[in-house]
Amino acid sequence: MRSTLIVSAFAALALAAPRPQDIDFTGVDSTPDPDVYSAPTNVTSEEVAIQPASAALAIASAAVTDVATTSDPVQEKRDLTDGLSARGGDCAALPAGSGPAVNNPDTPDAFTSYQPFLDASNNAPVPQGYTQAFQGLFGSSQTTSYLGFTTLSSYDTVACQEYCDQLPNCISFNLYYERDPSQNPAAACPNPTSVTNIKCVRYGVQLNAATATNTGETRNPAFEVVIVGSNGYNKLAPPNSQPGFSGPMELDGAINAPNDPVTNTNTYMGTKFFTFDKIQSYEAGVEACTAACTAQTAYNSRHPPAAPAKPNVCNQVVVYVLSANNQPQGVQCAMYSESWASNYATNLGQYRGSDYWSVTQAYVYTNATYAANYGNICAVGGCPTGSYRGGNCGGWGSGLC
Ligand SMILES: *[C@@H]1O[C@H](CO)[C@@H](O)[C@H](O)[C@H]1NC(C)=O
Ligand SMILES: *[C@@H]1O[C@H](CO)[C@@H](O)[C@H](O)[C@H]1NC(C)=O
Repeated sequence: MRSTLIVSAFAALALAAPRPQDIDFTGVDSTPDPDVYSAPTNVTSEEVAIQPASAALAIASAAVTDVATTSDPVQEKRDLTDGLSARGGDCAALPAGSGPAVNNPDTPDAFTSYQPFLDASNNAPVPQGYTQAFQGLFGSSQTTSYLGFTTLSSYDTVACQEYCDQLPNCISFNLYYERDPSQNPAAACPNPTSVTNIKCVRYGVQLNAATATNTGETRNPAFEVVIVGSNGYNKLAPPNSQPGFSGPMELDGAINAPNDPVTNTNTYMGTKFFTFDKIQSYEAGVEACTAACTAQTAYNSRHPPAAPAKPNVCNQVVVYVLSANNQPQGVQCAMYSESWASNYATNLGQYRGSDYWSVTQAYVYTNATYAANYGNICAVGGCPTGSYRGGNCGGWGSGLC
C-alpha cells in the first residue's frame, strides 16, 4: 500500500528528486500494538513500576543487531495488577470518596451536570510550565505510557502537576471527577450511594482530547460510573539533553532528507522503533534513540565496509512519537549520517490505508563532535544561518562516500 502511494505521488519527480523518507513502518509492523490504559475505577491509587534509566540503554543496544535497519526485539509486557488491593465481597464497603459527594439526587446525570464540578474544571489554572490539552470532557484519557494515579481531596491542577513532577518521565496529566460506588454493587445493593473521587493520572506521553475516551462503565448490576470535568495538561519543556549530543532542537515533523546536495549520496540510515509497552515513556524513548544511534555507530565501525569506504556514523537522530489516529504507539528514531536543517522536517504524518499516522514531539539530536565541525545541511530557500551545503561524507571528508 505504502509503496504504491509513493510511486503514484512521486513518479513525476522520480528523476529530478531522490526518494524522500516517508515514515518507515518496519518497526511498527514487527511489534504488537501497545496496550492502552486509563486509571482503574475500582481502586483509589495505583503505583506503576517505573523502569530504571538503565533499561532504555539496554533496550537500545539490544535493538542494534545489524549494519542495516533491524526489527525491534520482542516486547515485554508490564504487569499492571501490582498495587491493587483486594476488594471485599458483595456489598462490602468501598473507600470513601476523596471529593464532595453528589447525593441529591444521586444520579449519573446530576453528577455530570453538577455546577461546582463544571466550574472547577472550567476555571482551573494552568500550572506553570504546562499547557492545557483539553478541558471539560466527560471521559478520562485512555492511552499508552500510563504512569499511575492518585486521588486528590480537591480539584487542584497544581497538586496534580506536583504529583506528575515527582516522576522525571511524567510529561502530562489528566485530572477529573469520577462517580464511584460506596459499596461493591451486587444483587442486594444494585445501585449503592455514590461517592466522588478526584483522580489525578500521570502519563509519559503528551495527551490530546482524542485520548479522553473512557466515559465510565456500568458496575453490575446497576451502578453507573461516570466522569466529568476531565482536563488534560502537557509539559512544555523539551526532552532532556543527552550526553555526547547537541540539542535537542525542536522540529515541526520528521525529516524528509534528499541526498547530500554536493556528493549526491544517501545519508539516511534507517529507523529504530520502540513501542510504549517496551520503553514506557517518551523520555526513556529519547534516551533509547540516542543510545541506539551511538550503538549503531559502534556496530558499524566493528563491521566496516570494504576500503576505501568508511563505516557510516550516526551523526543525527530524529526522535518523535508516532501515533495511529491520535493514539501514541511508540517512539521512532530516524538516523542520518549527516545533519539536516529543520527546513527538511516536513513530514507531519501520512495516511496508511484508512489510518492516519501522525508525527508529534519531534526533536533532533546531533553528535556533538560532528556538530562542532559542520553546520546542518541546507540547500533550499530560507536556510538558517550556520547551515552548510553538504559534501562531508558523513564527517569522513569529501571523496570518502
Ligand atoms: C479492578 O477491575 C479490574 C478490571 O475489571 C480487575 O482486573 C481488578 O482485579 C479489579 N481490582 C480490584 C482490586 O478489584
Ligand atoms: C560521535 O561520533 C564519533 C565518531 O565520529 C563516535 O565515536 C562517537 O561515539 C559519537 N558520539 C555519540 C554520542 O554517539
